[in-house]
Amino acid sequence: MSDDKIHFNGSHHLIHDFKHYQTLYQQSIDTPDAFWGEVGQRLDWFSPYTTVANAHFKDNHEIKWYEDGTLNACYNCIDRHLPDKANDTAITWQGDNPDTYQRITYQALYNAVGKFANGLKSLGVKKGDRVIIYLPMIPEAAYAMLACARIGAVHSVVFGGFSAESLASRIKDCQAAYVITADFSTRGGKRIPLKNNVNKALESTSDIVKRVITIYTDGDNDNNGNSGSNSHDYSEDIPANTEREIAYHTLINAQSPDCEPAVMNAEDPLFILYTSGSTGTPKGVLHTTGGYLVYAAYTHEVLFDYRPGELFWCTADVGWITGHTYMIYGPLANGANTLLYEGIPTYPTPARFWQICEQHRVNIFYTAPTAIRSLMTEGEQYATGHNLSSLRILGSVGEPINVEAWQWYHQHIGNKTCPIVDTWWQTETGGHMIAPIPYVWDQVPGKATLPFFGVKPVLLDEKGQEITAPDHEGSLAFKHSWPGQMRTVYGDHQRFIDTYFQTFPGYYFSGDGAIRDADGYIRITGRVDDILNISGHRMGTAELEDAFNLHPKVAETAVVGYPHDIKGQGLYVYATLFKGETPSDELKKELVAWIREKIGPIATPDKLHFTPELPRTRSGKIMRRILRKIAENDIDGIGDVSTLANPAIVETLIKTRIA
Ligand code: WT7
Repeated sequence: MSDDKIHFNGSHHLIHDFKHYQTLYQQSIDTPDAFWGEVGQRLDWFSPYTTVANAHFKDNHEIKWYEDGTLNACYNCIDRHLPDKANDTAITWQGDNPDTYQRITYQALYNAVGKFANGLKSLGVKKGDRVIIYLPMIPEAAYAMLACARIGAVHSVVFGGFSAESLASRIKDCQAAYVITADFSTRGGKRIPLKNNVNKALESTSDIVKRVITIYTDGDNDNNGNSGSNSHDYSEDIPANTEREIAYHTLINAQSPDCEPAVMNAEDPLFILYTSGSTGTPKGVLHTTGGYLVYAAYTHEVLFDYRPGELFWCTADVGWITGHTYMIYGPLANGANTLLYEGIPTYPTPARFWQICEQHRVNIFYTAPTAIRSLMTEGEQYATGHNLSSLRILGSVGEPINVEAWQWYHQHIGNKTCPIVDTWWQTETGGHMIAPIPYVWDQVPGKATLPFFGVKPVLLDEKGQEITAPDHEGSLAFKHSWPGQMRTVYGDHQRFIDTYFQTFPGYYFSGDGAIRDADGYIRITGRVDDILNISGHRMGTAELEDAFNLHPKVAETAVVGYPHDIKGQGLYVYATLFKGETPSDELKKELVAWIREKIGPIATPDKLHFTPELPRTRSGKIMRRILRKIAENDIDGIGDVSTLANPAIVETLIKTRIA
C-alpha cells in the first residue's frame, strides 16, 4: 500500500533527480570501491589510499576503509579551509542567556584548537591516549574534540547529564588518564555543577586519571545570564587545585596557536562513544578516522543539501553521536557554519528555538521528534510569532516521527515548503543510513524512505530469510559495510561480533524493526530488542534493572517502556522488595534519587510500581510481554495467563497499575 506523497519544490545541488539517485545508488552497490574511492577525494589526505573497502561481516569481522591512507580529521575540519574561509564563521555559539552569543571564525577556531592541542601535549597527552570530555555546550567542547583529533588522542565525550557513577564507569572502561570538564553547565537559567561529578568520579578512578582540565565558565567570557549566581561560593564545590588539577585558561595562555597535526592512519581511532545495549553495561562504540569523516561530510552535504554560506543548526548535545557527526565533524569538514546552542528549547520561553532561528537566520534545522512534540503542546503561537523565512530544510532524528508531529513541523515551522529529512541511523552507523534526499523524491510523513548510497538494507524474517514482499514487517539489517560503520566495541571485539552479527550471520543487525511499502519506502517501527528510546535517549532495560537491583531494599525489578505523548516512550518500573521492606512514597523517592545517581536524570522513572512478585513462566522467566501490556493499559491484549507459574499476580498488577 502506498500513501499520499508530499512533494517539495526545489532542486538539490548535487543530485539532479530521482533517476540520478538511482544511477548513483546502483553504482555504489555494484562497484563500492570505485564509488567510495571517488567520494573519499573530498577530504585532504597526507598520503593517498590505494585500497578502499576491506570489510567482513563474517570470520574476523574486521571493517577497514581507505586503510593505507593517512590524514588528520582536525586538519580537514579547519586548516584546509583557511585559504578561502579564514574570516568566515565556523561556529555560531548561542548561549543559554539570549543576549550572549559568539561567532567563531575558521581562523579563531584554528587558534583556539591549536592552543588547546599544544596544552594537551604539554601535559603529556599522546597519540592513542583516551581523553574524557565532560562538558556543557560551550565552544570549548568543540575545541576539545578537535584538539584531541589534532594530536591523535582518542576522545570520549560523556553527556553532561550522566551521573558521577556513569562517568566513572566510562573512565574505567577506556582507561582515560585525562578528563576535560567545566565548573558548571548553564541550562534554562540554572547552573548544574559538573566538576562536582568529576570529583565524585575521581574517588574511584584516582589511580587512572592523571590530569583534570577544568574550564571555569566565569573566566574571560561570562556566558551566564542569571543574576544571583554571583552570591555562589564556588570554593564549596571545587576543591583547591591538587597536582592533578589544571585550569583551562592557565593551560592554554602561553601556548602557540600552531600545532602540527598528527599524521593518522585512516583506521586509527578518532573517538569512542558509549551507548546502551540490550545487555550489560554501556559499550564503547569505536569510530576511526578516514571512513567516518568521509561518511560524516558526505551525508551532511547530500542529505541536508548543504550549500556554502548556509547556517546549519543541529540541536543535539555534543554527548551524542548526532552532536559528533552533524554538529562538529560533518559540517566543519564541509567548511560550514554550524550553530551550537548551550540551553534548552523552553527557556526563557517555548519560542526559544524559533527566536534563535530568526536571530541568526538559520537555514537548516535538525532536531528530535520529542522536542517537536513538546513544543507542539505549548501551541503554535510561539512559532508563528517569528520570522522563519530563512529556513530551507528541516531534519528529524532519534526516533520514529509520528504523523501529527511531522505535520505540525511541516506546517508551522517549514511553512509547507521545507523538506523534512527524517534520518534513520545509530551511534554505531556513524552517519545517516535511511533518509529522503531533499527535493529528489516525494515524502511520506513518518517514513524514512530510501537508503543512502552504499547502504543495502534488508528486512529479515524470524528464520533470517530476506523479506521481499511489500508491507511485511521484519528485522532491519544491512548486507554490506559503509565507511561510517563502527569498527569494534572498545576493548571487546567479541562483544561487537555477538551484538551485531550473531542474530543474522553475515548481516549487520540494527536491533530495529521496519516495514517496506510497494515503492520501497521504509518505515521504522522501533526497537525489537530490550532497548528503550526515552525522548530520543537510548537506554537498555538490563542496565536500568541492574542499577535498581543494587539498592539494598530492592529484590528485583523489571523495566519496560510504554507509549508517552511527548517522550515517545515512558519508563515504567516494576519493583519487588526484600522481605521485611514495605512500599512507601518515601521509598519511591529514594529509588528515584538512586537511579539518578547511578545513571543520571534521564533515567528518572515515569512510573514506579511496587509489586509483591513479578509474573513468571514455570521455568522462572519474567513475562515482560505481560508487563508491557499492563504498562500500556492494553488489558485485553494480555491474553491467556493460565500457563504462568503465578497467574494470580496479573490481576493484582492490573488493579494496582499506575495510571
Ligand atoms: C536508535 C539509535 C542516530 C542518532 C540518534 C540516536 C532510533 C534513530 C530514527 C528515525 C526511527 C530512529 C532507532 C535506532 N532512531 N533515528 N529517524 N526513525 N527511529 O542514536 O542513541 O544510537 O539510537 O534510535 O531505534 O536504532 P542512538
